[in-house]
Amino acid sequence: MDLWQKLRVHINEFFFENYPYIALYSGVGVAFTAYLHYQWQMHHYDLMHWKHLTEAFSQDIDCFQLAILLGNPDDGGEMSLPEIKDRYARFILLRLIARLDRIHSKISAKRKTLTFQHCARAHANMAKAVALFRKDARKLILPNESEILMPIEDIYGVAEDEDRLLRRSGYYKLIIDTTDDTVKALFNAK
Ligand SMILES: *[C@@H]1O[C@H](CO)[C@@H](O)[C@H](O)[C@H]1NC(C)=O
Repeated sequence: MDLWQKLRVHINEFFFENYPYIALYSGVGVAFTAYLHYQWQMHHYDLMHWKHLTEAFSQDIDCFQLAILLGNPDDGGEMSLPEIKDRYARFILLRLIARLDRIHSKISAKRKTLTFQHCARAHANMAKAVALFRKDARKLILPNESEILMPIEDIYGVAEDEDRLLRRSGYYKLIIDTTDDTVKALFNAK
């Protein structure tokens, strides 16, 4: 009797804590069964049909991945000038944001034990990040004579490893404006 009551309490607790999931899973299960039943009634699609369909689908996925792999090398070398400049502008902007972000989180982490030296160093690092951005942005806005004559990929190339890091850290999910005006405005910011 005692055991039975304990068990009931446990079961009650389990349902109480997990009822949203249980409701969701059983809802999906009911819908799925109803769908299979409907297909069986209407088209006589039995479980074998679904098995074949999933197999065909996974083969399609393989072909699709292969197509992407084969397609990629072709696309690699064929970016247009605006695309190259846009990629470059995005890269230097996101790199600036990422660096300022990193400096800011370091300072925030030390909030309680912050000294003047920390602030001074943070400020110097921010100035360095902005200076690098301005140096690279200048090439975009006011390329000099020798830069105009250089191959476009050489002046507006992006550092692959750093680019990959920005991508992995999610900075490319930021929606940013890389029009010349924005870069110009940031470039001239005092
Ligand atoms: C153009 O800028 C580059 C830096 O990208 C610099 O090394 C070069 O001396 C500059 N050339 C002229 C003609 O100003």
